[in-house]
Amino acid sequence: MANIENDLKSKNVLVTGGAGFIGSNLCDKLISLGAAVICLDNFFTGKKDNISHLIGQENFVLKEGDVNQPEFLEKIFDEYNIDYVFHYAAVLGVKRVTENPLLVLPDLDGIRHLLRIAQAKKVKKIVFASSSEAYGFSTALPLKEDDGQELIANQSNHAHLYALIKLIGEKIMKTYNDHYGLPTVSLRFFNVFGPRQESSAYGFVVGVFIKQILDGQPPTIYGDGYQTRDFIYIDDNVRLAIQALLEEKTNGEVINIGVGRQTTIVDLAERLLRLSGQDLRPVFIKDRSYEIKYRSPDVTKMRRLLGDGIADNLDDNLKKTYEWYRKNMFKQKA
Ligand SMILES: NC(=O)c1ccc[n+]([C@@H]2O[C@H](COP(=O)([O-])OP(=O)(O)OC[C@H]3O[C@@H](n4cnc5c(N)ncnc54)[C@H](O)[C@@H]3O)[C@@H](O)[C@H]2O)c1
Repeated sequence: MANIENDLKSKNVLVTGGAGFIGSNLCDKLISLGAAVICLDNFFTGKKDNISHLIGQENFVLKEGDVNQPEFLEKIFDEYNIDYVFHYAAVLGVKRVTENPLLVLPDLDGIRHLLRIAQAKKVKKIVFASSSEAYGFSTALPLKEDDGQELIANQSNHAHLYALIKLIGEKIMKTYNDHYGLPTVSLRFFNVFGPRQESSAYGFVVGVFIKQILDGQPPTIYGDGYQTRDFIYIDDNVRLAIQALLEEKTNGEVINIGVGRQTTIVDLAERLLRLSGQDLRPVFIKDRSYEIKYRSPDVTKMRRLLGDGIADNLDDNLKKTYEWYRKNMFKQKA
């Protein structure tokens, strides 16, 4: 196994989407491991607050701009000798990409230009943030990485263009890995949660529920609440992504990143209500046509390539997240 404590010292790492939820937590970890981080973000959903504590630090540079603009990207690669890239910038959020389906299309340009430039500059490896959405409406649980091979041929299986962009991105990453000498790995993130995640109406279920509870409102659940998701804490997600970067045997692979445990949305709401101590009951509202009922990753490949997997301590991690929102929610309201 690669040693994540040593292998990043003095390496230049570009994090696109570095002011976002996952990206900013990744920047923190990379800096703590001795890397020099170049954080690229256009603040579409990212926030200055997420990285304000890093601005001015010797090993951190913020480049504000659009990753889908080739001139901007080229300038960064000319200025810095980039060793590694985490490509996390993307338009996301189920509500956002459903209301504006075409908003995601320019993200293909970012993937295209990044690969072209990174190959020319002999980057050592790219980690691409893909998504469990790549599985579309697949019902064959647990979801295995190779399922994607059939799904890409069946576009009607996908509710969002977002999912297709991720699948196409994976394919292009693999092509560059296999045929153009640029190592890549695509990580299919399941539901990541933790401090700094968007909690507005366009946000994600853990943050949305916590915000509702802190506002004294009941959590609103779409449908019967028995849809399931796999919730992985941000620190685990970040650690596994860095491991995936450093392990050579992940080159060219697509890997699920999750806990391997299904949690219903009702269960999630009840856990959060319990730890809040508030006397509230969830409210059930009409389900969404594009809502995928069950999501559960097969984590065999993740364990084989990245190590032992993750301690399953959902309640402790929900508590840490809840406490963070309690202290920081005034910033989230902006
Ligand atoms: N959060 C999850 O549960 C989850 C699940 C699956 C996949 N992912 C993937 O992980 C990555 C990070 O997601 P996140 O949850 O941190 O979301 P986020 O919205 O907090 O982060 C995305 C970041 O990318 C930036 N960005 C978007 N378009 C950009 C552009 N054109 N140029 C420059 N910056 C741009 C945003 O401003 C934001 O800071 C995304 O690629 C997402 O698709 C996340």
